[in-house]
Amino acid sequence: MEVGDKYKCSVCGNVVELKEIGGGTLVCCGKEMDLEIKEEKVTSNEDIHKPYIEIRGEKEIYVKIGDPMHPMTQEHFIKWIEISVDGSLYVKSLNYWDKPEVVFKVPLGRKVTIRALCNIHGIYKEVYSL
Ligand SMILES: [Fe+2]
Repeated sequence: MEVGDKYKCSVCGNVVELKEIGGGTLVCCGKEMDLEIKEEKVTSNEDIHKPYIEIRGEKEIYVKIGDPMHPMTQEHFIKWIEISVDGSLYVKSLNYWDKPEVVFKVPLGRKVTIRALCNIHGIYKEVYSL
């Protein structure tokens, strides 16, 4: 958390800018607000932030972050994984005690975009064509 950071509410879309650090957690619409990071990083194969997908049947996409998987500790973890299939968006929030993997039950499309937020390193993105 730094002065000048912007946080966005994933429910209503409010964006707030941090003027002074008090140490608390920013909450809007009953949910913790997300640090807004404009820059999305495309990952290399060695990167523990690289999103991988596995198609499981007609309506399931398994997503994991990193191979080996990204660490999940209180200090450093994946906060959410988002999948966009032909423009439809699905998001799963994670806690540090979860594994950085999700099964999305969604109709398959032709283009799948995965984004994941690491609380320290930012947003990572990968696009797959099916
Ligand atoms: Fe990270």
